[in-house]
Amino acid sequence: MKKVLFAMALVATFSAAKAQTPAIPADVNALLQKHTCYTCHAPAKKIVGPMWSEIAKKKYTAKQFAGLVKKPVPANWPGYPAMAPLPNVPKGDLDKIHAWVSTLAK
Ligand code: HEC
Repeated sequence: MKKVLFAMALVATFSAAKAQTPAIPADVNALLQKHTCYTCHAPAKKIVGPMWSEIAKKKYTAKQFAGLVKKPVPANWPGYPAMAPLPNVPKGDLDKIHAWVSTLAK
């Protein structure tokens, strides 16, 4: 039932003229902006990289998540260009981003 409701919500979202995005906590929003993640990742839309809700489905641990940002594995995402490694993002910031991304997993 939860899945059905989610599917309906998706249909409603895509049929709406303006794209609705899930609410993002202010602190996470600030980090995504500061570290330029937004350039390539949106919550529910493919830009250059996969949307956060797709990444959430991989159910990475915080450690795996941080590791993949510092050293991306493009083979995990066929059809996408390789993500540029971002080795300078503090682990604490990545943990906060990871915690939020995890809430998007259905
Ligand atoms: C220049 C574009 C770009 C930027 C900036 C970017 N990403 Fe990515 N990201 C990608 C692409 C493309 C992929 C898929 C291919 C890959 O993993 O190499 C990806 C994949 C990922 C994945 C999935 C890794 C996997 O192997 O499943 C995570 C997690 C991720 N990005 C997090 C982040 C975070 C957090 C930031 C900001 C600190 C960020 N990305 C900034 C382009 C980007």
